[in-house]
Amino acid sequence: MSKLKAGIIGAGGISHSHLHGYRELSDRVEVVACCDIEQGKAQRYAERNGVARYYDNCRDMLANEKLDIVSVTTWNSAHAECAIAALEAGCHVICEKPMAINAAEAQAMKDAADKAGRLLTLGFVRRHGNDAAAARDLIQKDYLGEIYYAKATYLRRCGFPGGWFGDKSRSGGGPLIDLGVHVIDLTRYVMGNPKPVSVFGATFDKIGARDNIKTDGWVSETKVDKPIFNVEDLAVAMIRFDNGALLSVETSFNLNVKKGSGDIELFGSKAGLTFTPFELHGELNDRLADIAISGDNGFDFSRDFDREIKNFVDAVEGKAELVATAEDGVELMKILDAVYRSAETGETVFL
Ligand SMILES: NC(=O)c1ccc[n+]([C@@H]2O[C@H](COP(=O)([O-])OP(=O)(O)OC[C@H]3O[C@@H](n4cnc5c(N)ncnc54)[C@H](O)[C@@H]3O)[C@@H](O)[C@H]2O)c1
Repeated sequence: MSKLKAGIIGAGGISHSHLHGYRELSDRVEVVACCDIEQGKAQRYAERNGVARYYDNCRDMLANEKLDIVSVTTWNSAHAECAIAALEAGCHVICEKPMAINAAEAQAMKDAADKAGRLLTLGFVRRHGNDAAAARDLIQKDYLGEIYYAKATYLRRCGFPGGWFGDKSRSGGGPLIDLGVHVIDLTRYVMGNPKPVSVFGATFDKIGARDNIKTDGWVSETKVDKPIFNVEDLAVAMIRFDNGALLSVETSFNLNVKKGSGDIELFGSKAGLTFTPFELHGELNDRLADIAISGDNGFDFSRDFDREIKNFVDAVEGKAELVATAEDGVELMKILDAVYRSAETGETVFL
């Protein structure tokens, strides 16, 4: 069987993880082209990474190359346009999270995939972690009982990545759309993808970019000295699902909290489950009991990113089902839209 020809749209930070994932499958995939709208960036990327051809826009790349699969790794506002162009050119697409900057765009992407008969998956990398697999296993075997409440947090004390992440026209929003997307999706995934029915949310922008603080945390490749910051710095939300369960979300770029954190907590009628550390909390022999599950039940960004790419390639070759579907992405965007709408109006949004 000949190798799948892959192309990358958006030669920035996360594209390296996609490239790494494809290179791990070098007997099945060859990355033959890349493109980026920033002058000279695709050329530098191609030369440094041994990619044969480069372009300064995706239309030319899609027209000139016979690509089978495409990674969309642009900033958020370009996801829909680039993914739809690739799908219409007959490619299967993996698009980074968030799927788009709103649910209407996400739905248009799903429609384009359905019309073209091509696969569209999303960069919900947390679905590929050992923690996600272990949690789903425990839940399916009913160790938690009915899960009626969950908490998803992704709080940074000082963690605005810079670059375009604070520019709403390119990001679509702040920590909710950038970080919250991961933990909300992960919670839905382990709970069996319940549908959202109502959302109450609030957003704040009391601290802003906090770019006066010297930090050695992760920063965007496109970091600039005086970044635009017109997004929220904190978002909180309560999401009700169709199975009656309630999910509480807290996510920040900047917050006066002692320590940043990222965790999922599930509360069931038989037991609760935390992801960090990976522990069950319940009862045993009329005593309260905390059970630490042994083994590697963690998330490993690099390993799990490779798994995400492998799942995409396996699905394209008909060897696996997609772990994250376009429908999952649309549902998630509906939730994020609803949080922002609720934050604007102060009302609960019914979906
Ligand atoms: N899965 C994860 O954990 C994870 C981690 C980081 C970033 N991301 C996501 O990956 C995407 C990219 O983030 P990043 O940190 O790599 O950003 P980045 O700024 O480093 O790279 C984005 C690149 O896209 C290019 N670009 C923008 N519009 C384009 C278009 N229409 N055509 C071609 N190129 C275009 C930009 O010039 C830039 O080089 C974002 O959607 C982000 O949310 C996901």
